[in-house]
Amino acid sequence: MRKVSVVQGDGIGPEVIGATMAVLRSMDLPIEFIEADMGLECHSRTGEYIPESSIETIRSSDCCLFGAITSPSSSMPGYRSPILFLRREFDLYANIRPVRRPSPDLGLVDLDLTIVRENTEGMYTGIEREENGVVTLERKVTEKACRRLVRYAIDLCQRNSIDTLTCVHKSNVLRRSDGLFRKVFFEEMEGRDIVARELLVDAAAAAMVTRPREQKCYVTLNLYGDILSDEAAALIGGLGFAPSGSYGESFALFEPTHGSAPDIAGMGIANPTATLLSAVMMLEYLDLKNDASRLKKAVYLTLNEGVRTSDAGGAFRTGDYCHEIILNLDKKDSC
Ligand code: NAI
Ligand code: MG
Repeated sequence: MRKVSVVQGDGIGPEVIGATMAVLRSMDLPIEFIEADMGLECHSRTGEYIPESSIETIRSSDCCLFGAITSPSSSMPGYRSPILFLRREFDLYANIRPVRRPSPDLGLVDLDLTIVRENTEGMYTGIEREENGVVTLERKVTEKACRRLVRYAIDLCQRNSIDTLTCVHKSNVLRRSDGLFRKVFFEEMEGRDIVARELLVDAAAAAMVTRPREQKCYVTLNLYGDILSDEAAALIGGLGFAPSGSYGESFALFEPTHGSAPDIAGMGIANPTATLLSAVMMLEYLDLKNDASRLKKAVYLTLNEGVRTSDAGGAFRTGDYCHEIILNLDKKDSC
């Protein structure tokens, strides 16, 4: 029996997680699901953003399925971001975001790209100083983080028969920091059976639109990966279709790329596809390959039947959409 901790979070977090859990529970999986409370709504209930008991629950599990969290708009004393905390606590260094157009009539371009994003350093160290009207941001790039990320990306390409890996950087300007990442990339790619390519980050953003089928796998630094993956999600139909997994040496966390969407929270119209596809990644991680493939096929089949939530031009509510997916779990047709 595997153990999965589940954080619903804020806003539409409980809606997309609730819908995904309904589908997972209908699949009779060898998984025990345990709830862990975190975030802004948790704070208003318990006085804590990240309760110690929730950390313990997550620590006792094999991996975590995470909804979304609302960040406070102004600085709140004692606030700690649960997602940044978990990435650090479990050293989840590789953030994987597969972006695939779910159906030919959705999105703008026919993209099928995996983005491997560094998840622990770069611009996201949050070290900023203000002195005499000058704000200085410290940006950290280490050889260790670059090397393990590139190795992760190579391994991912090998596991998924991806024949080309593209290093995305800006080393023409950031010669030392991005230059280090680029150098490590070419060192690690030496003698591999995968074509090594490179693109400057601005060109990589353009290439997703102008030459989408050439893009197979980008390996990149934290901020670039964050921005490129939102662009990629928009190109394939919106954030509601973009899953992600963050992996460390011995733990992984799966979450939709989108946030808590306060503008539609509580309306029952959130698109749970990104969370469902994150659950597919989770089942693969747990070595439940047949279940992963069964769920993935049902999601794509349902979308191809024209069953859509309102962000994708449909009229299905979150719960009804998942009901259709449950009905499709045992259909033989695939995507
Ligand atoms: P967002 O991703 O929550 O929403 C952006 C737009 O996309 C909104 O119009 C929203 O309605 C729509 N949208 C997002 N997910 C959707 C879904 N599943 N179905 C249908 N429509 C969807 O980004 P935003 O508005 O910038 O941030 C809202 C809050 O979420 C903020 O507090 C932000 O800090 C937080 N956030 C949390 C993340 C996390 O938990 N990992 C990631 C990104 C943002
Ligand atoms: Mg983002």
